[in-house]
Amino acid sequence: MSLIEVRNLVKKFPIRGGVLNRVVNNVHAVRGVTFDIASGETVGVVGESGCGKSTLGKCLIRLIEPTEGLVAYEGEEITGLSHSELMPYRRKMQIVFQDPYSSLNPRLTVQATLAEAIKLHGVVKQSGSAMDDYIDELMRQVGLRPDDKVKFPHEFSGGQRQRIGIARALSVRPDFIVADEPVSALDVSIQAQVLNLMKKLREELGLTMMFISHDLKVVEHFCDRVLVMYLGYVVEEVRTDDLDNTAQHPYTRALLGANPIDDPDDRRPLVILQGDVPSPINPPPGCPFAGRCPLVMDRCREKMPPLEVKNGAPVACWAVEDGKAPEPLTRAGSRSPASA
Ligand SMILES: Nc1ncnc2c1ncn2[C@@H]1O[C@H](COP(=O)(O)OP(=O)(O)OP(=O)(O)O)[C@@H](O)[C@H]1O
Ligand SMILES: [Mg+2]
Repeated sequence: MSLIEVRNLVKKFPIRGGVLNRVVNNVHAVRGVTFDIASGETVGVVGESGCGKSTLGKCLIRLIEPTEGLVAYEGEEITGLSHSELMPYRRKMQIVFQDPYSSLNPRLTVQATLAEAIKLHGVVKQSGSAMDDYIDELMRQVGLRPDDKVKFPHEFSGGQRQRIGIARALSVRPDFIVADEPVSALDVSIQAQVLNLMKKLREELGLTMMFISHDLKVVEHFCDRVLVMYLGYVVEEVRTDDLDNTAQHPYTRALLGANPIDDPDDRRPLVILQGDVPSPINPPPGCPFAGRCPLVMDRCREKMPPLEVKNGAPVACWAVEDGKAPEPLTRAGSRSPASA
């Protein structure tokens, strides 16, 4: 069953200017995105900087208001709910941010940070021994010493701070977590530890997740399915278990080819994408990837292809033909932080 349904989601950020401070233009951050997330599933969102990943994640949990479209949670439309109607969903849907430091209040101890959310949502009603026990258990769950709950964020390492960010998200017993580049700010050696922790917790708690990353390799190991974004569009939706053979969009395939290969015997050149992504202000008509695409045709510059099922999975590309599966990619097995 779908836990989350997203239909034609659009987010434009107005740009104001002139003496009257009128809206003179818009940043087209998310441009009509439709997908579902099944209960218990982890869906990755991958794409380059500025393609709309964080905006999409925040619209899903209504940290920002979408311009158009709808989001439903367990069949209930949450776009359009008032602040008070939204409160139960605020508890069920949590977010873990990229930068654990700036997302934690530096003046609060870990204990105080956790207690704040726990009380707000009434998970434990008030401070006291029940609260202490609950926080100790949370600390243990994320691999921190309960005694360290009296410390302040600056007293922890980056990886430990991200564990606190995870504990804060889990403290209100959510069903769904948006993890927005949760390990990108961490050292590679620490990334694997945090990813493994998230995997463990996901299984133990039966969490549903949206996992945002610019690294397809990490997404491939961590997620069941991936949405590939390009300048506000989802251009492909594909399962991660056999990406080399099933990824159809030329952009996804370029990303796969561009993965650094850490096998010293492999001397194949990396496929590095040439050219720039167009601006999200006044984006050109047609497919935004056209300027960098090896398969580009005239039609691509005129009209954006719809996301439609071809060869069994949704893809938005005029060059991909139904009934003609993509050539398999040859790619050397490279290690990812998730499997290190
Ligand atoms: N509050 C805002 N006001 C105006 N423009 C914004 C705002 N937030 C995001 N944008 C713009 O919307 C577009 C999408 O941004 P978003 O942060 O969602 O991208 P992203 O894929 O998460 O990028 P990154 O990988 O760098 O985190 C970008 O062009 C960004 O500059
Ligand atoms: Mg982002």
